[in-house]
Amino acid sequence: EKGGYDYFMLKEIAEQPKAVADTLLGRIGTDGRLTLDELRIPDQVLREIDKVVIVACGTAFHAGMIAKYAIEHWTRIPCEVEVASEFRYRDPIMDDRTLVVAISQSGETMDTLMALRHAREQGAKVLAICNTNGSTIPRESDAVLYTHAGPEVAVASTKAFLTQLVACYLVALYLGQVRGTKWGDEIFGIIRELGDMPKHVEEVLGTMEPVRELARSLADARSVLFLGRHVGFPVALEGALKLKELAYMHAEGFAAGELKHGPIALIEDGLPVVVVVPSPRGRSILHDKIVSNIQEIRARGARTIVIAEEGDEAVVPYADHLIRIPATPTLLQPLVSTVPLQVFACELATAKGHEVDQPRNLAKSVTVE
Ligand code: M6R
Repeated sequence: EKGGYDYFMLKEIAEQPKAVADTLLGRIGTDGRLTLDELRIPDQVLREIDKVVIVACGTAFHAGMIAKYAIEHWTRIPCEVEVASEFRYRDPIMDDRTLVVAISQSGETMDTLMALRHAREQGAKVLAICNTNGSTIPRESDAVLYTHAGPEVAVASTKAFLTQLVACYLVALYLGQVRGTKWGDEIFGIIRELGDMPKHVEEVLGTMEPVRELARSLADARSVLFLGRHVGFPVALEGALKLKELAYMHAEGFAAGELKHGPIALIEDGLPVVVVVPSPRGRSILHDKIVSNIQEIRARGARTIVIAEEGDEAVVPYADHLIRIPATPTLLQPLVSTVPLQVFACELATAKGHEVDQPRNLAKSVTVE
């Protein structure tokens, strides 16, 4: 049942190219436009939406954080994202022009379910992004976009996360399509590039041996920090969450720009710091800023583990370890930059002798508030 792998997690990491491809399947038309017939919310209603609110927990919340960047950039609709367990307790502002997107692999997470019930009571439309057919969250939503990751058994979410990202991109691009915002070369180009992502995820998986080796060498580290900017920030949070839940190790993710506002005090000799570097093409200002962040932490003794696009030479002098990922549009980069972090956490936890499929104290679906 583990298909020759030692753990479900390894199998599920390996299944990611297919999971991404399956989630795209049938949703990109031959004319290059999206067809999301399963979204039972009429286009007219989607045209009138004036706010998107995303609610989710854990890894799904990180997918939601990335979705915010995509939705606001491609559609210009204001988007908020919040952990579901906080959402309803602060009396959030919603009405019938609010689209609430509830992201959940299992479809049974109680915090997310309670948040969506609260949203519907306020008259908001709720769209579920879910991996489990017929589960409670899609049943109680106005519409559902299923991710096609297949069953995810390991407690740590991997392939479900990548497919949640795909679903979020599809929702963002579809909103752009029906509303006509930024509809043109950029969005058409992105839809095409989304179709290439399974291949890019496969490429990354083929180059993971040095990452495993590095992870094993860090089994005795006391702490690992993760830094990112823009969509690399939620990826950093996701890398830290994986390490916490699997390796029971102190790990923290930060927005790299926040370093100087406190966390830089944590940097000491030999501290491993993983940095997710945005593409040097596109928003190059972001890239320049993160290169100086890498210099700053290295000057203070950090051992830098840099995840950067193929061909990005500017990072080379400051990277103690360099992990290459294929060049992709900035907003799609999380589909490839997350993969080495999953492999890293899984291997490090295994090196420490932990059971990666069933980490202590955790359950696959959290059906209590
Ligand atoms: O089933 P859900 O997507 O609603 O679950 C949400 C979180 O409990 C889940 O992503 C959790 O954070 C994972 N164990 C992370 O790997």
